Amino acid sequence: MAAYREFKEVSPNASAGAKTMNWLENRFPTAFDAYRVHMSEYYAPKNFNFWYIFGSLALLVLVIQIVTGIFLVMHYKPDAAKAFESVEYIMRDVPWGWLIRYMHSTGASAFFIVVYLHMFRGLMYGSYRKPRELVWIFGCAIFLALMAEAFMGYLLPWGQMSYWGAQVIVNLFSAIPFIGPDLALLIRGDYVVGDATLNRFFSFHVIAVPLVLLGLVVAHLLALHDVGSNNPDGIEIKGPGKPVDANGHPLDGVPFHPYYTVHDILGVGIFLFVFTAIIFFAPEFGGYFLEYNNFIPADPLKTPAHIAPVWYFTPFYSMLRAITTEMMYALIACVVLGAGFGVLKARLPGIMKAIVLGAAAVAIVLMLSIDAKFWGVVVMGGAVIILFFLPWLDHSPARSIRYRPDWHKWVYAVFVINFVILAYLGVQPPSPIGERVSQVGTLFYFGFFLLMPWWSRLGTPKPVPERVTFAAH
Ligand code: HEM
Repeated sequence: MAAYREFKEVSPNASAGAKTMNWLENRFPTAFDAYRVHMSEYYAPKNFNFWYIFGSLALLVLVIQIVTGIFLVMHYKPDAAKAFESVEYIMRDVPWGWLIRYMHSTGASAFFIVVYLHMFRGLMYGSYRKPRELVWIFGCAIFLALMAEAFMGYLLPWGQMSYWGAQVIVNLFSAIPFIGPDLALLIRGDYVVGDATLNRFFSFHVIAVPLVLLGLVVAHLLALHDVGSNNPDGIEIKGPGKPVDANGHPLDGVPFHPYYTVHDILGVGIFLFVFTAIIFFAPEFGGYFLEYNNFIPADPLKTPAHIAPVWYFTPFYSMLRAITTEMMYALIACVVLGAGFGVLKARLPGIMKAIVLGAAAVAIVLMLSIDAKFWGVVVMGGAVIILFFLPWLDHSPARSIRYRPDWHKWVYAVFVINFVILAYLGVQPPSPIGERVSQVGTLFYFGFFLLMPWWSRLGTPKPVPERVTFAAH
């Protein structure tokens, strides 16, 4: 039961606004407490740089997607015979329908741009490390939910790419041993992608996944505010020994409101400038945001010559295509080499034994079932799942990239370039050279994470300052 609270008094001469707020606070103190805890008395480090805008932008895009989504649902028909027409109707006849639809389709790509940059910020400044592991894990779960949301939303316009993209991806599930074919049937609700698939994807896209997404975002922020934000220096501003003012507030922090709310308005302004420019002048964005083939109604009898997912899935799609039978042998060799390296580095005999047994088991399973399609699915899924483990893979003495050895910056740069190359290759039709490059890229992607416990410890870190570096501006 909530504790009894004394009513707060307000002067009879107070303004009407102050009296209204007092009336409200006495009846709903929890809301006012929440405002204080998360806004006016949430002390965030004062040295945030522009990389810290992307969390707020992700929230903004989430709101844009929900609001425009509500209006789209008013006119959209989740019926295989009517879906394509209903989207055309929104574009041509519904007042401002074209704007709502372009906001939603551009918003989907903007969401991924913002979230990729937000994740990269976390990687650079070690924001996933103790005590922020759960903030990161909720973030990774958000990323998974976002991928599911975007994938199911893409089927709804019922164009050629919607249809064939869904067909390709759902078929991947059938490669899973034993349960695969039944699982694919359950997802489709039919033997081929059809009306049943459209209906269930609609239901998941408009209600189930958004609810999960919202819940995860709330958990993400609550967990963040419990442990406090990291910052570009990667040092704590709160806790034992940290300097505080007369009221016990951290000297290296500023209240989130008004300082960062006002600061974020600038970022929001720049974002909206670019966002609206794309909506008004290049909503298809050269076929990357809205694929040209998706302006053709779905035709189950006509497979498009080249099926590619939307750009934000393509790095993972490239990794899927990289797994050929030949690549399976390379993977087995990597497991054996990795185990040898692990044994050399392991100090305890028990760990050595576990590495040898684990590697032998993985190599045998890989050899016994050289089904490249299945392992492609495993690699593609593993590329996302591995992100969850990042807090335990990074062993660098310095949290932020600022104080790590300079060559770590190059490793991160190559990681980003590699990710962009994989994304590019994923939109291209398959080619022998593309296949080879994506195989090297896949090995680098996994090597970056799996070898991190080793390489992140190498080199001499720079001295980490006691207080955050801050230049007033
Ligand atoms: C809908 C998607 C998301 C929303 C709305 C969101 C929102 C936010 C907000 C508002 C913040 C505080 C401001 C900031 O530090 O930028 C934050 C921090 C953070 N987010 Fe997210 N986030 C999302 C997705 C993700 C994802 C996918 C990850 C990682 C996989 C992630 C990891 C983090 C981390 C580690 C922090 C703490 C950063 C620090 O203190 O340095 N977030 N998020």
